[in-house]
Amino acid sequence: MASARQVYIAVIGTGGVGKCFLSQLSALTKRRTSQKLVLCYISTSKKAIYNDDYAAIDIDNAVSALASSAQSPLALNNLVTYLAASGYKTVLVDNTSNQEIADSYPIFLERGISVVTPNKKAFSGSYKLWQDIFNASATSGARVYHESSVGAGLPVISTLNDLVETGDEVTKIEGVFSGTMSFLFNSFAPTSGSGGKWSAEVKKAKELGYTEPDPRDDLNGLDVARKLTILARLAGLPVESPTSFPVQSLIPKELESASSGDEFLAKLPEFDSQMEQVKAEAEKEGKVVRFVGSIDVGAKQVKVGLEKFDLSHPIAALKGSDNIISFYTKRYGSNPLIIQGAGAGGEVTAMGVTADLLKVLSQIY
Ligand SMILES: NC(=O)c1ccc[n+]([C@@H]2O[C@H](COP(=O)([O-])OP(=O)(O)OC[C@H]3O[C@@H](n4cnc5c(N)ncnc54)[C@H](OP(=O)(O)O)[C@@H]3O)[C@@H](O)[C@H]2O)c1
Repeated sequence: MASARQVYIAVIGTGGVGKCFLSQLSALTKRRTSQKLVLCYISTSKKAIYNDDYAAIDIDNAVSALASSAQSPLALNNLVTYLAASGYKTVLVDNTSNQEIADSYPIFLERGISVVTPNKKAFSGSYKLWQDIFNASATSGARVYHESSVGAGLPVISTLNDLVETGDEVTKIEGVFSGTMSFLFNSFAPTSGSGGKWSAEVKKAKELGYTEPDPRDDLNGLDVARKLTILARLAGLPVESPTSFPVQSLIPKELESASSGDEFLAKLPEFDSQMEQVKAEAEKEGKVVRFVGSIDVGAKQVKVGLEKFDLSHPIAALKGSDNIISFYTKRYGSNPLIIQGAGAGGEVTAMGVTADLLKVLSQIY
């Protein structure tokens, strides 16, 4: 029997983040008595589970049930129709990195379906898509949250929104936005000791599972550029796309066309001297090199690439694969507000998604 304060939840994606989200959702449904949360749809790219009468799917067994399901995913416009016809408040949780799903957020939002997601694609794609998403949300009242699209579960986006909405003036945002780049530079150019060879550190990062299957997908800087695009837009700069500002790629020109990640890794040692030179130049000034993104709001400048930092700088002192994000604002003066911690991992990323869902739940009834 449907209750008045019932919320239907559709989840797309059950990978590293999706699985952790489902376990957090399961705990949430048991804790939250003010609303009845019902998982009514779940899918991967090939399989789905849903019932025409919106009967609840058992969250605890959803992933194994999905593996043996004979149902195919609904086309996105049919999913919109299915959710909009439920008669209750609905939330789409997109735990994929799929562009097509991201492109369809305006249609979900227009039909009153709220969206929460760690997927960067919608918010760092074209500026038109960004506008369509927030215009659709403003018109229908459906909510959209994407905390985990920058810094995983770290409260980066909510903090920036709070700064902006309370009238502070954000002058600069600077940080290390990639766990992979953080790990690579913290071990290649540590603040004490000499560090390893660049190619050896890249290989080690891949073996530890810190890089994409092809490490060039981390080293090209695009992932960081996407995160910077999101933050710059939230800070008020209408950045057109992640390729509309300078982004330094760490892929040697000669290896851009390597046919596979393995071929790239095999040839990378031939180019170690380039990175050694960068490291030595920083050392001569008593500094270390780090791969950072920065947004100078006043100058309307966004850039991603290598910078040198004093050994005592918080960015130089970062450990492991942590992210660090510094907000320089009028209120905080010369001591920035700094957020630091794990910027990747299923549980922390899912925490950001679940926290976003809680925000939606508190706002839609
Ligand atoms: N992992 C992290 O530490 C982290 C941190 C911050 C943000 N994120 C973001 O979180 C999202 C999920 O990351 P992840 O690590 O969980 O990825 P993942 O392990 O690769 O899982 C992706 C899931 O999405 C599904 N999927 C992909 N395309 C789909 C489509 N067209 N329709 C339906 N399902 C589709 C996949 O199903 P199939 O198996 O059928 O393809 C899979 O279940 C990404 O946007 C990522 O950038 C992740």
